[in-house]
Amino acid sequence: MTTVIPAPVRRIDSSGTFTLTRESTVGGDPAAAGYVAVMLGLSISDDPTVEFALGSSSAPEGYTLRITSAGIRAEADSAAGLFYAAQTLRQLLPADQATGVTSAALPITEIEDYPRFAYRGAMLDVARHFFGVDDVKKFIDNIALLKVNHLHLHLTDDQGWRIQIDSWPELTKAGATTEVGGTGGGFYSKDQYREIVRYAASLFITIVPEIDLPGHTNAASVAYPELSDIPVSPYEGVEVGFSSLAIRSETTYTFVDDVIREMAALTPGPYLHLGGDESLATTDDDFLYFIERATAIAATHGKTLIGWHEMGRSTALPAGTVGQYWSFTTPQEGADEHTLSFVRQGGPIIMSPADVAYLDIKYDASTELGLTWADGPTSIAESYEWEPTAIVPGIGEAQLLGVEAPIWTETLATIADVEYMAFPRLASIAEIAWSPAGTRDLDEFTPRLERFVGMLDALGIQHHRLDE
Ligand code: ACM
Repeated sequence: MTTVIPAPVRRIDSSGTFTLTRESTVGGDPAAAGYVAVMLGLSISDDPTVEFALGSSSAPEGYTLRITSAGIRAEADSAAGLFYAAQTLRQLLPADQATGVTSAALPITEIEDYPRFAYRGAMLDVARHFFGVDDVKKFIDNIALLKVNHLHLHLTDDQGWRIQIDSWPELTKAGATTEVGGTGGGFYSKDQYREIVRYAASLFITIVPEIDLPGHTNAASVAYPELSDIPVSPYEGVEVGFSSLAIRSETTYTFVDDVIREMAALTPGPYLHLGGDESLATTDDDFLYFIERATAIAATHGKTLIGWHEMGRSTALPAGTVGQYWSFTTPQEGADEHTLSFVRQGGPIIMSPADVAYLDIKYDASTELGLTWADGPTSIAESYEWEPTAIVPGIGEAQLLGVEAPIWTETLATIADVEYMAFPRLASIAEIAWSPAGTRDLDEFTPRLERFVGMLDALGIQHHRLDE
């Protein structure tokens, strides 16, 4: 029996327990030991009861965690692995000791663990509603509990432009004062954005910035009307598909080059997301022309590009461009072909099927927040019972970079709203992304989820109730 989410690869329990107390101490690798000591509310010593040590592990990001009658020892060949061992240890504690140990009887056990996929993501839409640095950090804290290692920030959309770009300063003036509902807006200065990136990295999370092009660009064109052939005005509604950059204007490509150059310079991670979805106000010819030119320009700035699956309509992508699938678990309207196109061009796929992995979709008809367009509500069971290799024929384990849970914020105005929609369904997505294929069983997951929800309560994280 395991109590941990995501379920570890292997766990062998023996009889007996080891009791961790307030007097126990932590040591080993200084950074990991420091983190674990704060997490458990214990002090550091040279002769620790809880040792977190750099050593070996059987796979990237992997770790072992052994609890014996003498103490606790975690070992990994990376700092990330030790961090994941710490998350596992926290989940072995009684929920009411998740913020500090008093006295906890832990099972004698040996856990060996490593992730199924390298990319385990969540996405936060900070364009429809803006979320400040502290809110984003809180969200980062929360997703780290589940060994999620990428946070995709949807930084630009029709309702707002949220990142300082020095060469186009109006973007964060006229372009950033709006959001859905007319409640304000906002943007990240470069220093604030760097602070988010640094904080995320301290929890082994890579920020993936998205500049959505050529549709979803009304806010950019409000700031610079020359970027659009269509007349624009500030927009605080929730419709999609009405905006487009001016595809045949050279100014557009100067803009793309400047924005991507500045974003690439701000981004230590390998990925830069260029959107490409729902460009319904762009003709097919113009879309293909734009994607070829914009991705070629973006690729000169040294990042691996990601595009929503529609970008796969182009056969002229930079080699290795990553496709992000957001159609349903039964592909709609050519989504399967567009996704396969990335693979043919040498790129892997991130799976985000909207009918099971979009966490802004209502849990059921009575959920106040959220949307229903993605094939109706998504229950916790539905968020759990899908398999990323069973969606697009030809996209199997080898073609998948990973799995991501997007959270769009048309109806989510506060970070508490975001937490309520994300939790506990993000636990489902995280387990699909981390745990071995073929092991998912809802009846076995449910008691683990109850335990995890107890930890969310102890940590003060909003969530949908399991009995709701
Ligand atoms: C999307 O939901 N338009 C990617």
